[in-house]
Amino acid sequence: MTGGRESTRRKGGVADSRCVGTQLAERVTHSAEETVAFGRELAVHLRPPCVVLLEGELGSGKTTLVKGIVAGLGAAEEEDVTSPSFTLVHEYGSAGQVYHADLYRIEGARDLATLGLEDLAGQASTVLVEWGEKLGDNIPIPCVRIRMEHLGSDDRRVGVERVDA
Ligand SMILES: Nc1ncnc2c1ncn2[C@@H]1O[C@H](COP(=O)(O)OP(=O)(O)OP(=O)(O)O)[C@@H](O)[C@H]1O
Ligand SMILES: [Mg+2]
Repeated sequence: MTGGRESTRRKGGVADSRCVGTQLAERVTHSAEETVAFGRELAVHLRPPCVVLLEGELGSGKTTLVKGIVAGLGAAEEEDVTSPSFTLVHEYGSAGQVYHADLYRIEGARDLATLGLEDLAGQASTVLVEWGEKLGDNIPIPCVRIRMEHLGSDDRRVGVERVDA
């Protein structure tokens, strides 16, 4: 899932045409519990250092999926994983094991720099980034992009792709 680090190192370019995604998985879930379970499944495939971008509208289930990923990584219990909307970054597990960021309130490159996400990503960590589309080209290591789509009621489509530079 993480791909070869050499082959996937980012080389720059324009946001959204910046990289080629390789589809890894797609799942339609019908409840928050199913999304958490899918997150646990995905966690098995994540090898640090890894940045996981989570994209999708408000309430599409990004934090819910993160609960499963963090639990699957053995870094925290799912109920202890909460949205970092106000604190911007949460850390779970042993020092630097998992970071969970939410860029919803981030505006512009200066805010992003303040967050120090690149420093986090430089460690042997798994960095989970809600509203990851705001990172644009500033992703220093190979990553996985997860797109979440609200299909109506409790149905969500979760698309997972590896991002190659
Ligand atoms: N299939 C599903 N998958 C995920 N969440 C679901 C599902 N069905 C219902 N829900 C509910 O939808 C909500 C998703 O909220 P969540 O905080 O995970 O979204 P989010 O994408 O992180 O939102 P935000 O953009 O505000 O951070 C939760 O209340 C959850 O219980
Ligand atoms: Mg959220």
